[in-house]
Amino acid sequence: MTGMAVNRIVPLVAREALGDPYALLTFRHRETAREGRAGQFVMIKAGLSAEPPLRRPFSILSTDPAAETFTLLVKAIGPGSGALCGLEPTALAQCLGPLGRPFTTPPAEEEALLVAGGYGIAPFRLFVEQLLREDRPPRVFYGGRTRADLPLLDRFPPVVAELFPATEDGSLGRRGRVTERVEEWLDSHRVPARLYACGPEAMLQAVARLAEERDLPAEVSLDPWMGCGVGTCLGCVVSIQGAEEERAHYRCACTEGPVFDAARVVWPGESASRAWRAAVSHRPAGAPA
Ligand SMILES: Cc1cc2nc3c(=O)[nH]c(=O)nc-3n(C[C@H](O)[C@H](O)[C@H](O)COP(=O)(O)OP(=O)(O)OC[C@H]3O[C@@H](n4cnc5c(N)ncnc54)[C@H](O)[C@@H]3O)c2cc1C
Ligand code: FES
Repeated sequence: MTGMAVNRIVPLVAREALGDPYALLTFRHRETAREGRAGQFVMIKAGLSAEPPLRRPFSILSTDPAAETFTLLVKAIGPGSGALCGLEPTALAQCLGPLGRPFTTPPAEEEALLVAGGYGIAPFRLFVEQLLREDRPPRVFYGGRTRADLPLLDRFPPVVAELFPATEDGSLGRRGRVTERVEEWLDSHRVPARLYACGPEAMLQAVARLAEERDLPAEVSLDPWMGCGVGTCLGCVVSIQGAEEERAHYRCACTEGPVFDAARVVWPGESASRAWRAAVSHRPAGAPA
């Protein structure tokens, strides 16, 4: 974990439209630039006024410690994200970060398989850079409904062992769900692997199921609504099964996540007892609680 998150008024340094509704936004924020880790996020809102009242959570896509800047991949879907994408360079935003728990580093003997859906690719750029520094190029599985959902494909990631794009309509990469490509890879590579996933909840649940079937450790970055980002509003609670007690507990995704051990997440529509069995039978070393 990093130190205390810092709240600052930050200027937008650069904006690059990637094609509606995505943009890359670069802000100056010293602490996030220096300390931001893969899987962590910032809470940010455009402008200095009280409206809209709440900051919104966005994964840290990349950092530049020397320039003291960080970059976000923002999909404009509503007032908060739309106002951020509408900022002009030098305009100000209110930013709190870095926040949350990052992905854990895979043990040396495990291949890292990164599974991203849509803007869920965002935390994996830093993760790829981290793994490359350790000379452990990961596999990246990047999926969406159509090619428009893969806005970073041609520039992200710069160097990976293999990149597997997939779209449900077949407009880019292989037709089908991204998790099908992960399954194929696992079928043809009988090696120890650890799955890391970020994307829509259905995809995260599919990755968790796949990991359970194959007895593989997996970490998922959850995407609940967040109000404060620091553990006070309880807007972000998710049901997490501990291995020690039989009852699932609500955990704040902002402070105890957003990255969780997939085996411990009680998914909507699922019973806590299934997660209990999974948590007890499957305790990956070094995985987040
Ligand atoms: C840890 C974390 C990291 C995130 N990283 C990114 C990122 O890198 N890039 C990015 O574009 N977005 C990211 N998001 C999602 C982003 O926070 C939301 O899109 C944003 O808060 C929407 O705010 P808004 O005011 O624009 O729209 P709102 O009016 O708040 O929402 C518009 C619509 O989207 C739905 N919605 C809002 N938030 C979510 C959510 N979290 N999950 C599912 N549906 C939602 C609402 O129900 C509503 O229907 C992340 C979320 C979390 C929790
Ligand atoms: S977002 Fe407020 S407690 Fe997590």
